[in-house]
Amino acid sequence: MSTQKIPTTNPKVIDWVNEIADLTEPDAIYWCDGSQKESDAINNLLVENGTFIPLNPKKRPNSFLARSNPKDVARVEGRTFICSEKEQDAGPTNNWANPKKMKKILNKLLKGCMKGRTMYVIAFSMGPLGSDISQIGIEITDSPYVVANMRIMTRMGQKVWKILGDNDFVKCLHSVGVPLKEGEKDVPWPCNPENTYVTHFPETKEIISFGSGYGGNALLGKKCLALRIASTMARDDGWLAEHMLIVGLENKKLKIKSYVTAAFPSACGKTNMAMLIPPKEMKDWKVSTIGDDIAWIKPKKDGRLYAINPEAGFFGVAPGTSPKTNKNAIESCRANTIFTNVALTDDGDVWWEGLTDEPPQHLIDWQGNDWTPQSQTPAAHPNSRFTAPAGQCPIIDKNWENPNGVPIDAFIVGGRLATNAPLVYQAFNWQHGVYLASIMGSEKTAAAEGKAGEIRRDPMAMLPFCGYNMGNYWKHWLEVGAKIKHKPLVFRVNWFRKNDKGQFMWPGFGNNMRVLEWIVKRTQGIANAQETVFGWSPNYQDLTWKGLSMSETDFDDLMKIDIPTALKEVESQKEHYKPFKKQKTLPIELEAEIILQEERLKKAQ
Ligand code: OXD
Ligand code: MN
Repeated sequence: MSTQKIPTTNPKVIDWVNEIADLTEPDAIYWCDGSQKESDAINNLLVENGTFIPLNPKKRPNSFLARSNPKDVARVEGRTFICSEKEQDAGPTNNWANPKKMKKILNKLLKGCMKGRTMYVIAFSMGPLGSDISQIGIEITDSPYVVANMRIMTRMGQKVWKILGDNDFVKCLHSVGVPLKEGEKDVPWPCNPENTYVTHFPETKEIISFGSGYGGNALLGKKCLALRIASTMARDDGWLAEHMLIVGLENKKLKIKSYVTAAFPSACGKTNMAMLIPPKEMKDWKVSTIGDDIAWIKPKKDGRLYAINPEAGFFGVAPGTSPKTNKNAIESCRANTIFTNVALTDDGDVWWEGLTDEPPQHLIDWQGNDWTPQSQTPAAHPNSRFTAPAGQCPIIDKNWENPNGVPIDAFIVGGRLATNAPLVYQAFNWQHGVYLASIMGSEKTAAAEGKAGEIRRDPMAMLPFCGYNMGNYWKHWLEVGAKIKHKPLVFRVNWFRKNDKGQFMWPGFGNNMRVLEWIVKRTQGIANAQETVFGWSPNYQDLTWKGLSMSETDFDDLMKIDIPTALKEVESQKEHYKPFKKQKTLPIELEAEIILQEERLKKAQ
């Protein structure tokens, strides 16, 4: 990989690469071409370094296991910064840092940080090649593990260099932050947790990440570019960059196909919904996957919103994923997959909690130790992941790489709420939908995060990912909606309501198709609904019940709205809005929606 023809003549790229090489002092520079040969060489190098363990090729062809440093296992929100010129532009939900001061800190850390390492230059496209919705980024990294993952998660290499031409790009600089002294042996997972920074400079469209090699901290196309930086681009150019899955829902008998997007905070079954298998009694319905995590959505001339999945792979949470809960995700990672922090079986395959009913009698856990079912610690880290090509998903939609995107009929928002949140309801209109999305969230659990029942608000599931002031982001949603003729309908769902005994009242998983069917039919104008104080709700007879025994009384309980509790919830929503009101970024329309909600509830008292 030494003497190479540089694949671009773009002076902005060449100047930037030279500038970073002068600063970080790598031993070599390698320009990635995205070829199979290159991928094999990188994988071999990772095996040689001890970062990758090759899995049994008969069970898991061309797949590898990586074990991270135990101090580098997840995104680090506390070390993630929005470095906008003005603090107000980062808003009350982000860590803000002055861009000049942050650059000073980073430049100190970056000085000589790639010594003893190769610096890789990756040109990547977020979104199908050549789509007018796609964006090109260039990631400079000293981590071959990042190169291997970026090859799955993005379209990268030669074709992207060609499309880039002399155009602009998003600068993504990443270093694990561990220079090597002459002759010093590397460790399998170099990282620098004490000095980790994940920083974003919206005005100059730059990302600099230092110290972590894990997931969204290091694969800079994902959360950093496709959400934090893209949300600011979307604000400036009139589109939406969202933390949403995209699915196709088709009924051949009814001759309808709708695409819907859905935003859920983490741990709400997003990947399951993206790859849902309808119950066998609903075999006229076919679900197809466009994306499981991020949607870029643009208004087009026909007055509709069109969405693409900017990613090319899934970076899915492994624990809990099984042939029973998500057969399509299991199939997606059958080969050509990188597993990180899962357990290794004695026959060279992978295992994680929930994969099988019975755990194997012996495993090597995610930290490389012997593990048996008697062990007190989990075999796989709770945030262990699989990086798998999206094209391997058995139900990938035929339009998933369509550069025009797919037209969106509905936005779904949801959270994990045990009480007083009905299974589903439809917003009265776009503005009401933006309000519902702005107050969404999940209940905190007593064990981890404080008082049980309290809601951790996660507007549009964008709390850690919105690259600017969240109040202005809501305003942007309202403005986009005002400009489009055919607005998607907005729905709020909750799969997680519990009864007095603490049992889930809704079976979830494939049965969510019963709710999605009603949603699609609403978008087509062929399903009934009744007006409630929250929005439009289905009647019992509006859902398909074949194959599921749920009485009308059970359904009524699942849909019940307790007015005093809802009024208390409104008070908490007002608290949630306060910091934005203080910064004068809370849209007046959302204040109006709270008043309307309160009035509806008081009237119904
Ligand atoms: C993810 C996340 O990893 O949302 O997708 O944290
Ligand atoms: Mn996500």
